Amino acid sequence: MATNAAQASTSNQKLQDWVERWVGILQPDAIHWCNGTDEEYAALCAGLVEAGTFTQLDPAKKPNSFWASSDPGDVARVEDRTYICSENEADAGPTNNWRAPAEMREELLARYRGTMRGRTLYVVPFSMGPLGSPIAHIGVQLTDSAYVAVSMKIMTRMGQGALDVLGATGEWVPCIHSVGAPLADGQTDSTWPCNSEEKYIVHFPETREIWSYGSGYGGNALLGKKCFALRIASVMARDNGWLAEHMLILKVTSPAGVAKFVAAAFPSACGKTNFAMLVPTIPGWKVETIGDDIAWMKFGDDGQLYAINPEAGFFGVAPGTGADTNANAIATLQSNSIFTNTALTADGDVWWEGLSKTPPTQATDWRGESWTPDSGRPSSHPNARFTAPASQCPAIAPEWQSPAGVPISAMLFGGRRASVIPLVNEAFDWNHGVFLGSVMASETTAAAAGASGVLRRDPFAMLPFCGYNMADYFAHWLEIGAKSGAKLPKIFYVNWFRKTDDGRWLWPGYGENSRVLKWVCERVDGTVAAVETPIGLLPAPGTLDVTGLDVSASDMAELLSVDVAGWRAEVPLIEQHYAQFGSELPEALASQLQQLAARLA
Ligand code: GTP
Ligand code: SPV
Ligand code: MN
Repeated sequence: MATNAAQASTSNQKLQDWVERWVGILQPDAIHWCNGTDEEYAALCAGLVEAGTFTQLDPAKKPNSFWASSDPGDVARVEDRTYICSENEADAGPTNNWRAPAEMREELLARYRGTMRGRTLYVVPFSMGPLGSPIAHIGVQLTDSAYVAVSMKIMTRMGQGALDVLGATGEWVPCIHSVGAPLADGQTDSTWPCNSEEKYIVHFPETREIWSYGSGYGGNALLGKKCFALRIASVMARDNGWLAEHMLILKVTSPAGVAKFVAAAFPSACGKTNFAMLVPTIPGWKVETIGDDIAWMKFGDDGQLYAINPEAGFFGVAPGTGADTNANAIATLQSNSIFTNTALTADGDVWWEGLSKTPPTQATDWRGESWTPDSGRPSSHPNARFTAPASQCPAIAPEWQSPAGVPISAMLFGGRRASVIPLVNEAFDWNHGVFLGSVMASETTAAAAGASGVLRRDPFAMLPFCGYNMADYFAHWLEIGAKSGAKLPKIFYVNWFRKTDDGRWLWPGYGENSRVLKWVCERVDGTVAAVETPIGLLPAPGTLDVTGLDVSASDMAELLSVDVAGWRAEVPLIEQHYAQFGSELPEALASQLQQLAARLA
């Protein structure tokens, strides 16, 4: 699939040598240095159409956009195949899969040798964060997937610009990726090449390297995202006093015109994209988007935490995304987008459950089979995704590419909890907030392979993404709070996902979440009261704006009540969760748990 388009070039000898060494191992048929231009993007997409990976959508409906359906065995992140290969096992901690780095290198090198035969090796230089920003970092990914190369063009600042920032002597995070499917002479390629037997998503935190093998899907293959911007960056952040988090960033402006920036950590497929783009239902309030998945935060000279979105695009969950739930996402993905594992309609458009009330009468489902509304199965995989440029979001904030980042006033933690956790509560202070983050739990979703709907602890929404010992990560958060002169954001715990016993949502969610956001802003300003409860500060009666909200008084009361029995039952579960960290668990958190138990007694 080599193109004739101009290729990128670099004066960085170390980079050239590194590529040459890997070419010797991977043995591709051709090499293409991606320059990141629109011409290159068009040529790569045309090649993907020719290969059958992409189907071009009707340009009258979705200009310059493509549909792809993956191998059914390659639809989500693979957490059981994800490894943190630190020199010492203890540094990976009890929540990560660990393998000795030397052993893992040997095992994977054997698979990498000759794995790109019959394929083109794409050299994909990229910047996580605005080009040249002091908060940004450069990576270079080697991949044999053109799907990955074009996705990286949407998701990062990809191409010659990143090489220019690197210059002759700059450092980069080296990322190796192969779908693990070499082609013999004359062998017909599959439309979604991957390795159905073996997948490896491997991180070497000490040397800041990423080696990925066998998958072409999202977080397994677009290595700038979870592998670099979270797992490797969390280690860089620990070492250098900053934070790399699984958080959206939004700007919220009150009717008086006062703007605040809020970051929020919810686990995968728990509402970050939706919250980042929400259209407030309360008059006069405005929400704009900075980022929908990842935040890098560093202290400014004024002691505040400043956040950037290291990404340039959205890799969003399609099912459940519609004009009524997330109009801004729908507007964003109207052009220049890639749709993976959605349905393809007969008239050259895409569809998924929740896009519109009326399904198409006939479509091709995500497995490539004919589908009708009577098929008795969903048209799209529950983890079907759209890949769309952030710049196309009508709600994108003017500051979204600010190299200095935006000052964070509040941080929200949340997850999917059918019971126990109220709609919102505020932490008493930073350490109590860190405690709440450390004990977060959420029902699993289709974003990772495995069962959905199982409640598990997912501290800070980072369980699958922390590149080191989670107990040390807790300690790092406590240290951030203890930094002298720090002007810390207030911390809140939210839950949009409460259900009644018969499975009805108690809270309408989406745009109505602006009511909680308003309360958060007013708490930051100190203009509304909260009541002290055993679990934290809850809205004082009448302070959460419910004007015009269609929720019964009894449902509201349940959403804002403290479930003392439920929380008492949580205490031994939190003890169990903490026990896995042994003596590594920071004393301050053990003490937070004791205090909680005492307040509940
Ligand atoms: P990742 O990209 O996997 O990190 O996910 P995310 O956190 O960005 O999740 P996203 O916003 O894409 O939401 C995932 C699913 O949750 C979608 O199907 C949404 O429709 C649904 N969802 C989002 N917000 C709400 C809400 O407030 N209430 C309810 N009931 N569902 C929501
Ligand atoms: C997530 O799973 O949290 C995602 C999608 O944001 S992926 O890039 O596949 O990790
Ligand atoms: Mn995510």
